[in-house]
Amino acid sequence: MSAYGFGGMIKKLKENPKTIVFTEGTDARILEAASRLLASNFLTPILIGDEDEIIDAAENEGYNIRGAQIINPLKYDRFEEMVDLFCELRKSKGMTPEKARPILSQANYFGTMLVKMGVADCLLGGATYSTADTVRPALQIIKTKPGNSIVSSCFILVRGAATGGREVIAMGDCAININPSEDDLVEIAGETAECAKVFGIDPKVAFLSFSTAGSAKDPSVTKVQNATKKAQAKYPDLPIDGEMQFDAAVAPNVGQQKKPGSKVAGYANTFIFPDINAGNIGYKIAQRMGNFEAYGPILLGLNAQINDLSRGCNAIEVYSMAIITAALS
Ligand SMILES: CC(C)(COP(=O)(O)OP(=O)(O)OC[C@H]1O[C@@H](n2cnc3c(N)ncnc32)[C@H](O)[C@@H]1OP(=O)(O)O)[C@@H](O)C(=O)NCCC(=O)NCCS
Repeated sequence: MSAYGFGGMIKKLKENPKTIVFTEGTDARILEAASRLLASNFLTPILIGDEDEIIDAAENEGYNIRGAQIINPLKYDRFEEMVDLFCELRKSKGMTPEKARPILSQANYFGTMLVKMGVADCLLGGATYSTADTVRPALQIIKTKPGNSIVSSCFILVRGAATGGREVIAMGDCAININPSEDDLVEIAGETAECAKVFGIDPKVAFLSFSTAGSAKDPSVTKVQNATKKAQAKYPDLPIDGEMQFDAAVAPNVGQQKKPGSKVAGYANTFIFPDINAGNIGYKIAQRMGNFEAYGPILLGLNAQINDLSRGCNAIEVYSMAIITAALS
């Protein structure tokens, strides 16, 4: 595992240990990551599920999860308190205790409510749940933090950490907002740049498009042009430029030819995609063909840190994402 920024995050957690909910308590990858976390003392896992099933699964896989908290929604002594709070939070949607109980028996909703109730600091799910099923409870229960109008996400991509030629870049939003408006793009850029800083990136933000500096005309290009202007006005201290193609963003000869004098063109390290199609495909190309390790999606703009795993994740990725999730919480 590359450990970019992890040393600082672990140090921070050792000073202020946290608890993290894993919604898929019997999954072998979660159990392996939980056993690794328990071997250190900075992050306590809370595993959701039936206690016997979780202990059997851990024993069968050979993982020591002694010290983990296990909570079964069906036996939770504060379940009715949780039902009442959920009904209060969702009263505008006509929520009743009868409707709430089966919803809260599901690990994704139950785990998110544990964070809302302050039983846990943060949550990592999605080893088997889809992104939508992991994120929706957070949108409904945890909600956007004051000053934000959307929840969005970014990936942190790291390459070359083992060889010392470390490259770290940020990409947003590759996972949540399917077709962001120009105002959404402005917020995504600001949040992604803030997250990039946590990972040691000095952000240079490129708004990506299939057009550079008006070379093509289309409403999708206009959206990116307008977002760029609004972001430059909103974050005057950040180097931001666009709209630009990816080669103009990363290749200095192309960038400076197409946007002479730009502080970003050719040197970008924080990439804002025009929509989720571009973003999701883009980060996966970097990961699968560019040998970058991808950490994320890291959710941005929530009142508490809830993160989603890829269903294809391995135990090391679960462990890394758990540390990131807790350190950002
Ligand atoms: C995130 C996502 C699941 C939300 O979709 P949804 O559940 O259909 O959303 P809804 O429109 O029904 O809204 C559900 C709630 O979330 C809120 N919400 C939806 N999108 C939001 C956003 N981006 N930010 C903040 N809140 C949001 C809604 O306001 C609503 O709140 P309410 O119930 O309190 O009124 C959806 O945008 C999605 O599927 N995104 C792509 C996920 C994906 O597949 N990614 C690729 C793999 S990484």
